[in-house]
This record gives sequence, C-alpha cells and structure tokens, in this order.
Amino acid sequence: MGLFDLTSHTSVVTGGNGGIGLGLATGLAKQGANLVIWARSESKNASAAARLRELGAEVLTVRCDVAEPGSVTAAMAETLDRFGAVHSLFVNAGISGAAPFTDMTPEEFQRVMDVNVTGAFLCMQAVVAHMLQRGEGGSIVAVASVAASKGLPLSPHYSASKGGIRQLARSLAAEVGRKGINVNVISPGFVRSEMTADWQAKEGFADMIRSRVPLARWGDPEDFERIAVFLAAEQGGYLSGSEILIDGGLSSY
Ligand SMILES: NC(=O)c1ccc[n+]([C@@H]2O[C@H](COP(=O)([O-])OP(=O)(O)OC[C@H]3O[C@@H](n4cnc5c(N)ncnc54)[C@H](OP(=O)(O)O)[C@@H]3O)[C@@H](O)[C@H]2O)c1
Repeated sequence: MGLFDLTSHTSVVTGGNGGIGLGLATGLAKQGANLVIWARSESKNASAAARLRELGAEVLTVRCDVAEPGSVTAAMAETLDRFGAVHSLFVNAGISGAAPFTDMTPEEFQRVMDVNVTGAFLCMQAVVAHMLQRGEGGSIVAVASVAASKGLPLSPHYSASKGGIRQLARSLAAEVGRKGINVNVISPGFVRSEMTADWQAKEGFADMIRSRVPLARWGDPEDFERIAVFLAAEQGGYLSGSEILIDGGLSSY
C-alpha cells in the first residue's frame, strides 16, 4: 500500500452513511482505515457499517445531528472511547432545498445554514481540539460544492452555506497549519445521490449534463474514493488551504 497506507488511521466521516460520504468512507476502508460515521439515521448507519465491514474495516457509527452542539460533543467522546485518536475528519454532512428567493422562509434558510455551516464548525472544532491536544497533526477535509462559486437559482441558502464552509476551512487552514494540521476543501459538481434524486429524474437533465460537463456524465459516490485516500494521507504533506474540484470539468468550461 506504500504511500497511501491508512492502517492504524482513524477517519471520521460526517454523513458517511450514504452518497458522497459513503464513497469517501469506502475509499478509506479499502486502504485499511478505521471508520467512524456520524449521521442521524440508524438504519442507514447500520447498512453503511455492514458494507464497510465487508471491506475489512473496523467501524463505529454514532447517531449524531451535526447541528446540535451536545450531539457532536457526545459523538466525539464515543469516538475517542472506541479508537483513542482521530487522524482525519471529512466534514461532509449536508442538506439542500429549493424555493424561489422571495418565498423562502427564514426557517428554511436557517436550517440549511445550521447543518451546512454551524454543523461543519462544530465538527471541525471538536476534532481539531483533539488534534491540538494530541500534538501529532491531522487532516481536515470540508465538502463544499461548485455552488460555493456559482450562483444557484432557487437555492441561495445552499449556495451561501457552501461558500461559508469553504471559508471556514480556509480560515482553519491558516490558523492550525503551524500545528501540522492540513485543511482542504473538495467541491463536487453533479453527483448521483439522494440529494440529487429530483434532478436525476428531471427530463432533459441528462442532456444538460452531457453538454455542460466535459467528462459528459454524472459523478458517482465511487468517484470520491481516491480523493479521500489522498487527502487523509496528506497529513504532514504540503497541500493545505486548497480547493479541489471534483466536477468532471464543469467549472472549467
Ligand atoms: N450530490 C451532489 O451533486 C453534491 C454536489 C456538491 C456538493 N455536495 C455535498 O456533498 C455532501 C454529501 O451530499 P450527498 O450528495 O452525498 O447527499 P446525501 O446522499 O443526501 O447525503 C447527505 C448525508 O448527510 C447526512 N446528514 C444530513 N443532515 C445531517 C445532520 N443534521 N446531522 C448529521 N448528518 C446529516 C445524511 O445522513 P442522515 O440523514 O442519516 O443524517 C447523509 O448521510 C453534502 O455536503 C452536499 O452538500 C453534493
């Protein structure tokens, strides 16, 4: 396994029970990492854990709402009880939504910000505090979106939240780099998951993908396996504060 050997490495993946998060977790499990999943649904947690264990991984799932400070504190304590240390964190849990700008309620707007930005902050804070205390560095990866840079009609809350998580990560990178903690951002384009189920079903959407995405296809959760391994293994490397676009070329075109 050489450069990318993750044995004795423990990764927390928030929202790792499906979609992109499970893609990230699968890549990490294939390279020997222990996996901890923080997400809300017990049934999805159980089926993700079963898939990851088939790959030989040690897996802990914790029922956690990342937007709730107490829930994140408890998840961190359970994680350390089980594995003793966290070497990488993938801040991936997220929600979306759609409404015309003038119809969007403050509650809809706030919930997306709570999960995608405040939730990211709480998870980063819990894990980084542990990494600083341990004194051996670590790797933090925030999942933003191409929507962090592009305007998204009907989803101003989502787009704003993704800009928010990207800046959260860059600020953290600037603050903790000297402590050996690398912080990077990955920004997916159009990826098949529960979040995009409505778009996948929409007539004409596949043609739009073919014409606007240079690689001419949807992304799949499996497309996130290798980047997860690379970024987890980058602890101590020279990549930090970067945004890596995993969008089939969408942003370049
Ligand atoms: N799919 C795309 O095209 C795309 C593009 C750009 C960026 N992204 C980003 O990629 C990330 C993953 O999205 P996905 O496409 O894989 O969507 P998904 O399949 O809907 O997965 C979202 C994950 O987040 C978890 N989650 C949601 N709210 C949570 C909360 N309050 N606390 C803890 N966990 C929570 C969900 O698990 P539970 O429901 O069990 O909690 C689920 O595991 C998100 O941040 C999303 O914004 C996706």
